[in-house]
Amino acid sequence: MRFETSAIHSGSEPDPATGALVTPIYQTSTFVFEDVGKTRGYDYSRTANPTRKALEDNIAKLEGGKAGFAFATGMAAETTIMHLLKKGDHVISQEDLYGGTYRLFDGVMKNFGLEFTFLGMDERERIESAIRPNTKMIWIETISNPLLNIADLEMVVEIARRHGLMTVADNTLPTPYLLRPIEYGVDLVVHSTTKYLNGHCDVVGGAVVTATDELAERIQFFLNAMGTCASPFDCWLVLRGIKTLPVRMERHEKNAIAVAEYLEKHTAVRRVYYPGLKSHPGHQIALRQMEGFGGMVSFEINGGVEAVDSFLRNAKVFSLAESLGGVDSLVEHPATMSHASMPEDFRESVGITDDLIRLSVGLEGVEDLTQDLEQALKRS
Ligand SMILES: Cc1ncc(COP(=O)(O)O)c(C=O)c1O
Repeated sequence: MRFETSAIHSGSEPDPATGALVTPIYQTSTFVFEDVGKTRGYDYSRTANPTRKALEDNIAKLEGGKAGFAFATGMAAETTIMHLLKKGDHVISQEDLYGGTYRLFDGVMKNFGLEFTFLGMDERERIESAIRPNTKMIWIETISNPLLNIADLEMVVEIARRHGLMTVADNTLPTPYLLRPIEYGVDLVVHSTTKYLNGHCDVVGGAVVTATDELAERIQFFLNAMGTCASPFDCWLVLRGIKTLPVRMERHEKNAIAVAEYLEKHTAVRRVYYPGLKSHPGHQIALRQMEGFGGMVSFEINGGVEAVDSFLRNAKVFSLAESLGGVDSLVEHPATMSHASMPEDFRESVGITDDLIRLSVGLEGVEDLTQDLEQALKRS
C-alpha cells in the first residue's frame, strides 16, 4: 500500500456495528462484559478504546513499527518512555531539542535519579566519548527544534547497537511522510501529534511507535499504569488529520522552500536555517535520509532585540504563537517562548540565540507569506 493510501485506510475498518465509514468517537469510559470474565475486546478506556486503537494502528503502520500508542500530549508520550529507565541510568540527549523535552529531562527526570549528557549529535567521537557504563539510551530529534539540525540515523543507530543502547527518535518535525526512523533501526519513535499529524492547531496529543513487541508490551503497561493516554475525541481528530498528511506536507514544504529562499536573500536577515538549503549543515544527510525537508524555517535577524520584537509585532499572516505544523502560519521567538525553560547560558551555547526566530510555514498563499515577511522586516 502506498503511504497516501495507508494514511487514509490503515487502522480503520467500516464500523462493525453500523457500517459507518469513518471510525466513530467511542466516547465511553467503560464497556459491558459479554459474560463473567469475558469482554468484547475492551473493558475500560484507559486500557484501550476503539477510536484510540484506530489511530494507534494507523500511526504504527505509517512509521513501520510493531505497535502504536496514543497519549494525551507529546510530553505524556515522552514521560511514559522515560519510565523504561530506572534510577542511576544515563541518557545521551541531543542538546538542540524542544525546550519542554529539556525541561522534562533536567527539571523532572533528574529528580528520579536519571543522569543526562546533552551534546551535539553531529560527530561520532563526541557521542562515543559520552558513553558511560550506566548509559542506557540515546535521545534524538530527527529534525531538531528550533535549529532544524538533522540527526544522522545510520551513525547514531550503529553506535547505539554496538554499545547495547536503546534509541528514541522524536519524529515530530519530518513526520513519517518524510522519514521513518524504525527503517534505520531506531527502537522507539515519539511524536507530538499536536503538530503535523493532526495539522489543524485544534488538539494536543502524543504518540509512541515501537520497533519490537517487547517494547510494545512495556509501553502499554506504563500507559495503562500511569494513565497517560489520549481521549477518544482527540484521537478522532488526529486520525482525521492524518488522512491529509501527505498533501499538507507537500504544500508546507513548497511554501517553506519559497520562504527560506526569500529570507536568504534579504539584507535584514543574518542566517537562515532550513535543511533544504545547500548552506544548511545537515543538507547532505537530509538528502540521503529524508524524502523532503519539511515546513519549518528558522532565521536570525540583524538589529538585536528591538528588531526581533518589531518583527514579531508586525507579522500579520504569521500569528505570534507557540506550536507548529498546522495549516496556519505561526511565528515564535524560541528564547522567550518554546525554549524559555532552558537556562540562558545553555541555550546560547547550543546556538538558540536571542536573535533567532522560528517560522512554522502554513498552507496560505505563498505570496501572502512572503509579502507579510517583507512588510514585517521593513519595520524591524
Ligand atoms: C519536537 C517536539 N517534541 C515534543 C513536543 C511536546 O509535545 P506537546 O506540546 O504535544 O506535549 C513538542 C512541542 O512543541 C515538540 O516541538
